[in-house]
Amino acid sequence: MMSERKKVSINDIIKMKGAGRRITAVTAYDYPFALIADKAEFDIILVGDSGGMVSLGYESTIPVTMDEMILMSKAASRAAKSSLLVGDMPFMSFQVSREEAVRNAGRFVKKGGMNAVKIEGGKEFADVVRAIVRAGIPVMGHVGLTPQTATLWYGYKVQGKDNRSANRIIEDAQELEAAGAFAIVLEMVTEEVAQIVTEKLSVPTIGIGSGAYCDGQVLVLHDILGLYDRFTPRFAKKYADLSSIASEALANYRNEVTTGKFPSSEHTFRMDPKELQKLKARLGKLTEAEV
Ligand code: KIV
Repeated sequence: MMSERKKVSINDIIKMKGAGRRITAVTAYDYPFALIADKAEFDIILVGDSGGMVSLGYESTIPVTMDEMILMSKAASRAAKSSLLVGDMPFMSFQVSREEAVRNAGRFVKKGGMNAVKIEGGKEFADVVRAIVRAGIPVMGHVGLTPQTATLWYGYKVQGKDNRSANRIIEDAQELEAAGAFAIVLEMVTEEVAQIVTEKLSVPTIGIGSGAYCDGQVLVLHDILGLYDRFTPRFAKKYADLSSIASEALANYRNEVTTGKFPSSEHTFRMDPKELQKLKARLGKLTEAEV
C-alpha cells in the first residue's frame, strides 16, 4: 500500500531552502486539477488570481473578486490534502486598509480552506503583510512583475534590467521578509537579480520567469497543460497539449451521437426481461381497453 504523503507545512518550505531542495509549485483553481497536482506531490498549490483569466475568462486579473477566489479555493481545498495551499489575494482585497486585508486573508483560511495567502506588491505593503502575519496567517510575498497593477500601468515587462529597478526589487523582497513573509515569488525578474535576492534572503524565493537560481519554481497550470488560448508567456513551458486532446475527444463524441454510434449497449440500461414482458402485456391490455 502506498503511504499517504504528510501535509507540507510552512516550516517544511522554509527548511527546503537550507537543505538545497528545490520547491515545486503550480496553480490550480478547481477540484480535478487540484487533485492531480496534490497526487503529483507538488509542495505548494497556489490558487492564483490567474484563475480569473485562465478559468473564468477575464481579460486580466483586475476584475477577479474575493467571492470568486473563495469559490475556487474551496474547490481546490476539497481535493488537495497534502500540498501547502496558498490563496492569492485579488486586486483591491488588501489595498484599502490593513483591517480589510486581515479580514479578507481570514476568509481565505476560514472559508476557502487555504493555509496561507499571497500578496502582490513591494515594500509599500510591508505593513499589510505584518498585520496579516500578526493575525496568525502566513503570507507569501510577490515582487518583480505584479500583474494586478502592471496591466493598469506599464504592461507585462521584464523587471530588474537596470540598476535602479534591480535595487527596488532587492529592497522590496528584503522588507517583505522583515515583515514576516515566509517566501517571496519573483515574477519576470532578470536571472542576475533573482540570484542576488535568493542569496540575500533567508526565506525561499519562488521564481516564475526569473531563471534557475530561485529556490523554487511556479507556473500557471493552464500554460503547462496547453489549456489557455489567448497568450502564453515566453518563460512558460508547455508540457502537454490538453486542448487538442480535449477537442479531439469532443469531436469524436459529437460524431458518434450524430451517427448513432453512441450510446451503444455498453452504455445503456436494460429492464429485467420478465418485468418487460409484464409491462408489455399490461400496455397491450390498456390499448385494447382504450380501443
Ligand atoms: O496568479 C498567479 O497565478 C500568480 C503566479 C503567476 C505566481 O500569481
